[in-house]
Amino acid sequence: MESQYTIEQLTKAVNTAIEQLQFPAAPHNIYDPIRYVLAGGGKRIRPVLMLLAYNLYKDQPLDIMPQAIALETYHNFTLLHDDLIDKSDLRRGKPTVHKKWNENTAILSGDTMLMQAYRLFGNNAALSDFIDATQGVLEGEQLDIDFEERSDVTEAEYMEMIRLKTAYLLAYALKIGAKLAGAAEEDQQHLYDFGIQMGLAFQVQDDLLDVYADTAVFQKKLGGDIVENKKTYLLIQALNMANAEQKAELDRWIDQTDGDKEEKIAAVTHIYNNIGIPAITQQCIETLFEASHKSFDKVKVSEERKTQLRTFAHKLLGRKY
Ligand code: IPE
Ligand code: IPE
Ligand code: MG
Ligand code: MG
Ligand code: MG
Repeated sequence: MESQYTIEQLTKAVNTAIEQLQFPAAPHNIYDPIRYVLAGGGKRIRPVLMLLAYNLYKDQPLDIMPQAIALETYHNFTLLHDDLIDKSDLRRGKPTVHKKWNENTAILSGDTMLMQAYRLFGNNAALSDFIDATQGVLEGEQLDIDFEERSDVTEAEYMEMIRLKTAYLLAYALKIGAKLAGAAEEDQQHLYDFGIQMGLAFQVQDDLLDVYADTAVFQKKLGGDIVENKKTYLLIQALNMANAEQKAELDRWIDQTDGDKEEKIAAVTHIYNNIGIPAITQQCIETLFEASHKSFDKVKVSEERKTQLRTFAHKLLGRKY
């Protein structure tokens, strides 16, 4: 019988490895926030994807735990800075670092986490992939910021932005796991493609959850994207499909940047509902997920060995937070 770890076992192992990370005591305003963010939960999607990809080929996925938690550390760094950029006050049900401490602390703790991620990753065959992945996310974040000021962002431009800011890390998690396991180049590429499609679906779903999630489980504040005029999949589709009256109303709310936030969220959500945006968005998510499975089908590993990764993708599709 081949040796395969379950998603639950790997998630637990990732959490244990993160708990065991040691940071200097001082300056405490750098290291306390890092401990706070890393201990703050999170689904641990990216390290688990890396370990699952490695486990497609090798029996001991825990051998690449340093690289897996390096990626998770990097992801947590992006969240720390992303919350500063997006003016988000709540993450994983807790105050964000720039709220609990201040903006300078968020910048410097984030920078230190980034260096810590590289220290953990180490020098190995996948280092240039790690650099590509981590740099690409920052490019995607910049496009996301640039798009706030524009109202003519196309669906194609949006897809390119989320490919970089979100899909990249999922794709490279899989590619790096496979590469470190010595997988063939073609398999690495198919896993990468699988991760890109899954990552696009994941971000479109994140956009949907930002408006429609159940607040009891979401752990972020609803409506932040609407307040910040983020060019989400929902807003782009709404702008494309609105009739003249709805378009004028949407434009008016986009122009209003200093009024009552809750009023803006309620009004834009109402327009989304009238246009049928939730169902259209759900359809997009499902199409992307189906495409991702076609890429995964091409990976030359037994179906039995692929079970955990398939289950993982299905669970992601149904995520509520
Ligand atoms: C949040 O990522 C940022 C996005 C790319 C949407 P996750 O939803 O994976 O966040 P955590 O780590 O589980 O909190
Ligand atoms: C996340 O995009 C992408 C990152 C690189 C962090 P969002 O800004 O939509 O993520 P959340 O909703 O704050 O988690
Ligand atoms: Mg954000
Ligand atoms: Mg953001
Ligand atoms: Mg979001």
